[in-house]
Amino acid sequence: MERLQKVIAQAGMASRRKAEQLISEGKVKVNGKVVTELGMKVAASDKVEVGGIPVERERKVYYLFYKPRGVISAVSDDKNRKVVTDYFPFVEQRIFPVGRLDYDTSGLLVLTNDGEFSNLLTHPRYQIDKTYVARLNGIPQRHLLKRLADGIQLEDGKTAPAKVKELSADKRKQRALIEITIHEGRNRQVRRMFEAIGFEVQKLKRERYAFLNLNGLNAGEFRELTAHEVKQLRTLAETGSLR
Ligand code: URA
Repeated sequence: MERLQKVIAQAGMASRRKAEQLISEGKVKVNGKVVTELGMKVAASDKVEVGGIPVERERKVYYLFYKPRGVISAVSDDKNRKVVTDYFPFVEQRIFPVGRLDYDTSGLLVLTNDGEFSNLLTHPRYQIDKTYVARLNGIPQRHLLKRLADGIQLEDGKTAPAKVKELSADKRKQRALIEITIHEGRNRQVRRMFEAIGFEVQKLKRERYAFLNLNGLNAGEFRELTAHEVKQLRTLAETGSLR
């Protein structure tokens, strides 16, 4: 049995607060009857509707996926390009990616059918660290990397402080591998940060998402997150730490 507002929030139809408001306003029905009581608990077999729309109650699932390059972080594409959910043909739940990676970016992506969990992890208020490795078309000097670490002005505002580390530099080929950890999730943020110091990102891979990594997976493979990992991700998003 779960509380009514939680069931609505978990289906991704509203935040928990908004769900409470909808209940108080008489917009929610359980088994055909309007319910305005906030604490009411409902069973999996109870039919819940919000504004006449049935609330889906499928089992919540959570996956860690190694997205290959050349795949869209979406559940469908009008140009028929490959999308991340094509890699999950036997998963019957309607999963979707939590946030997104660019078409050309590979790496760690979480997928779920839990709307509340997804909102929690992608909300700008909650700051999940994301670590990327970028291959650049040159070798940036230290002071330029420091500018990225301190925060750099982009067209949509200054970026928050980041952790930046040179992993390797090849003088002959004039290219470098740089590891960068950010917690914001702006559109093409890592690529634009490097552009702002005069470099092009030739390859980009997300190696870590919070405490999760890609160990044991090849591109195109996935595994289920453990219940413990899901719980830890929630705690991290809600409190900023694992304690
Ligand atoms: N930053 C980017 O530029 N691209 C991504 O896919 C993710 C972060």
